[in-house]
Amino acid sequence: MRTHHCNQLRESDIGQAVTLIGWVNSARDHGGVIFIDLRDREGLTQCVFRPEENPQDASLSHTLREEDVVQVTGRVALRLEGSGNTRIPTGAIEIVVTALRIVNKADVLPFQLDKELSNEDMRLKYRYLDLRRARMSHNIRQRHAITSAARRYLDEAGFYEVETPILSNPTPEGARDFLVPSRLNPGRFYALPQAPQQYKQLLMVAGFEKYFQIARCFRDEDLRADRQPEFTQIDIEASFIGQNDIITLVEGLLVSMFKAGLDIDVAKNFPRLTYREAIDTYGSDKPDTRYEMKIIDLGDIFGGTEFKIFRGTMDSGGVVRAINAKGFAGITTGQMNRLNEIAIQAGLPVKTLAFIKCEGGEFKSPLWKFFTGTEKEAMISKLAIEEGDIVFFGAGAIDTVSTILGRVRTEVATMLELTKNSTAFNFLWVVDFPLLALDEETGAWGAVHHPFTRPHPDDVHLLESGDYAKVRAVAYDVVLNGYELGGGSIRIHEKDLQAQMFQILGVGPEEQQIKFGHILDAFRFGAPPHGGLALGLDRIAMLVAGEDSIREVIAFPKNNKGADLMSHSPCQIDTKNLREVYVQSTWKDPKLAADAPPSLK
Ligand code: AMO
Repeated sequence: MRTHHCNQLRESDIGQAVTLIGWVNSARDHGGVIFIDLRDREGLTQCVFRPEENPQDASLSHTLREEDVVQVTGRVALRLEGSGNTRIPTGAIEIVVTALRIVNKADVLPFQLDKELSNEDMRLKYRYLDLRRARMSHNIRQRHAITSAARRYLDEAGFYEVETPILSNPTPEGARDFLVPSRLNPGRFYALPQAPQQYKQLLMVAGFEKYFQIARCFRDEDLRADRQPEFTQIDIEASFIGQNDIITLVEGLLVSMFKAGLDIDVAKNFPRLTYREAIDTYGSDKPDTRYEMKIIDLGDIFGGTEFKIFRGTMDSGGVVRAINAKGFAGITTGQMNRLNEIAIQAGLPVKTLAFIKCEGGEFKSPLWKFFTGTEKEAMISKLAIEEGDIVFFGAGAIDTVSTILGRVRTEVATMLELTKNSTAFNFLWVVDFPLLALDEETGAWGAVHHPFTRPHPDDVHLLESGDYAKVRAVAYDVVLNGYELGGGSIRIHEKDLQAQMFQILGVGPEEQQIKFGHILDAFRFGAPPHGGLALGLDRIAMLVAGEDSIREVIAFPKNNKGADLMSHSPCQIDTKNLREVYVQSTWKDPKLAADAPPSLK
């Protein structure tokens, strides 16, 4: 239907007869002469209808509206002196139309495509129009580029792409499962995979050695800007490798993806932090290191303090730590309230964060008068407090203090717009995660990554002695600018160790057989040592595109209630269809149901 696309013709093509097809991006009437910008996915070309040369089509061109689909034939001409458009690559030429065919008329659009639209519901409802916009089209194309680069890289590194089932069994990755009733097996359900974790390990037992998959994963969890109920992983597993092999492989993979997406050369050998260092320094296991504002421990300064609150903390084995928000002494009351709110959500047991401001050469703080001269001096020096700074304190249990100061740190960075114009990509690895974490509410131990993660060889004996909190895992996360891009581990490949692990996690022998019998069985028949990692493709695409939500790089995302506003999924299923799959709904009118979520009432 065309001889060229709309981003192809240049001055060197002048005089050629061409045919283009696409959408009317805009139409302008200049004293009876109609100009249109014709658009296809590649770009724009200006077309002009001259009444003196082609009166019939010139008259038809007056009826053209934005987003009509048209085909034009004409000849390439140099634009008139001074009317070139340097902002587009075809800006020096135009097509003088000799034949116009209106292929399909468009109704008036629900919104203009060339204006940013803040109403996201509207964008999602008409997603196919939203995707026509240059920014979205660019994002999807860039996502394609990085996905292809990943495939190429892994293929060249000898990895097989293998598909694994979507209708499968529950996989413990920490979220709820989406369930699918089985018509052929009444009363039974499939679970959609939260990750292909068990299958990829079984592929290692099968002897494939190197596997990858661009895998759809499904998790029923609270949604955020970087979380969707269905998302895509670049899922990797390999045999006969150790942590460093995976790290080297994944660094190369990310380098190739950033080259393909942005044409930039990311430096390999990403810094590595242990989990403990990350938490102690940044209060987060996915620290944004584009700015400093590190958490400083003040234990040495307040070891002998007589200030009651800090004294109590130190005596009960807690910590006193602080961050210096440089140049933020001018914080507004609103901002202060917001920080207090965040700190309370993070576990602050009182209503306000303790702080010291340095303003007009004075130290302003309700606490200042309680400190000795030596303590004051030591603090000023250790925290490098200068005019215009504000220091926030945390005192209490180490984990709570880290969480609070970590959240305050990122919020202050947002308030100060510390990363607004940053073009840095600060990749890093967080290694030596703890293997297990205690659920304070239930008193049960849970896997920090998942139950298949290998304990650190130096810490296995602690599993015997029951000192679970101290056991490290051979697990690693790759982090970029405060986002967890991916995570993985070296796995358990021995049946007994795997069974022991399940036992610690509260899964007894009988339940192990029912839920994980296939894995335990497989490990009896010569399972190779293996490990892997999964990268969140949506998050990588988001950061490459410079967006702050993964919805901007997913063609048809769900909104934050997990709904597709365009196709109206999830939808109600009538009783007949439910009966066919042996499902009976107990769901009543949401407004009447006692257990309905507040959002529906
Ligand atoms: P994990 O659960 O850490 O590991 O997931 C790996 C990566 O997937 C991305 N991700 C998500 N992206 C968008 N929306 C979500 N709801 C979502 N959940 C996770 C993140 C995350 O780092 N089986 C293990 C991997 C392994 O051990 O090999 C796993 O799934 O970027």
